[in-house]
Amino acid sequence: MIRSVVRGIGSALPRRIMKNADFEGMVETSDEWIAQRTGIRQRHIAADDETTASLGEAAARAALENAGLTPDDIDLIVLATSTPNNTFPATAVEIQNRLGMRHGFAFDMQAVCSGFVYAVTTADLYIKGGLAKRVLVIGAETFSRILDWSDRSTCVLFGDGAGALVLEAEQGDGTIADRGVLAASLRSDGVHKDKLYVDGGPSTTGTVGHLKMEGREVFKHAVGMITDVIEDVFAQTGVSAETLDWFVPHQANKRIIDASAKKLGIADEKAVVTVHMHGNTSAASVPLALSVAVADGRIKKGDLVMLEAMGGGFTWGAVLVRW
Ligand code: ACO
Repeated sequence: MIRSVVRGIGSALPRRIMKNADFEGMVETSDEWIAQRTGIRQRHIAADDETTASLGEAAARAALENAGLTPDDIDLIVLATSTPNNTFPATAVEIQNRLGMRHGFAFDMQAVCSGFVYAVTTADLYIKGGLAKRVLVIGAETFSRILDWSDRSTCVLFGDGAGALVLEAEQGDGTIADRGVLAASLRSDGVHKDKLYVDGGPSTTGTVGHLKMEGREVFKHAVGMITDVIEDVFAQTGVSAETLDWFVPHQANKRIIDASAKKLGIADEKAVVTVHMHGNTSAASVPLALSVAVADGRIKKGDLVMLEAMGGGFTWGAVLVRW
């Protein structure tokens, strides 16, 4: 059986860091409120010359270097983003051009915070279907550009950044001892649209719009949805909370991460938490968290890693990878 094995990883963050205290005076909030409710301490915010494409390109270059590959070795780029540089063409194609790739193909995926989980699953299917041998899977966002900076209930939660993986076709045995993407569970349900959305778009207002969220409503659904898809992946593979090595969740809120791990029986020390450093970077949050845990030596070759995310739509999903 063909498996999609992780060959390289990289990330990129805007130069500017915005601490919680920097919001004081802008909106009525405090470092204490933000940290207690979310776990967030700081986030990176893109400067005018930093875009989803430039951050995505930098993360892709870092992942290629980590893999010991060049853009010539890549067949496909899948970019998960809700904040593309332009309505079209796809920012993935812009990144392809920035990388000097004159071959292969590239497209964007839009599943908001679940985008990276959807993109890894999609890349895996292109590899298994024989349409690509090596895929750059990128999650890149500049959510700072769609925030209402006068709305304290949303502007303190998000940040900008990018992360990327190189997935490569490799022959496996078809067992969970294989390296690579082992199983996935994806869901969406549009009945929840009004709880988390952007109030603009090309076909409605002709504007970009601003992020709107009923935070308490999202919170209420998050833990149940996340645990459902992870339990599905456990059932598909026979892996359990005990045999799992690392839990790399979407980084929206520390309380959601803790409650999900608790409900699943995953030990706290297996959860990779970076929300304090990056805030919620939507589709970039899982690859950014992975990058941190790989760089500091926690995630090693052969480890069983559960990726998970939930976001606007709602969309949600989980992917099990043997690193
Ligand atoms: N500073 C101070 N007070 C604030 C702030 C702020 N930044 N923001 C809101 N408040 C106030 C509210 O106005 C409210 O005041 P009130 O009681 O007088 O009305 C009070 O704090 C409590 O507000 P809640 O919204 O009930 O606070 P809660 O504990 O639910 O925390 C939060 C809010 C952090 C947004 C939480 O609900 C959350 O994390 N929700 C989930 C978000 C999420 O997971 N999103 C994932 C997907 S994101 C994506 O897909 C793009």
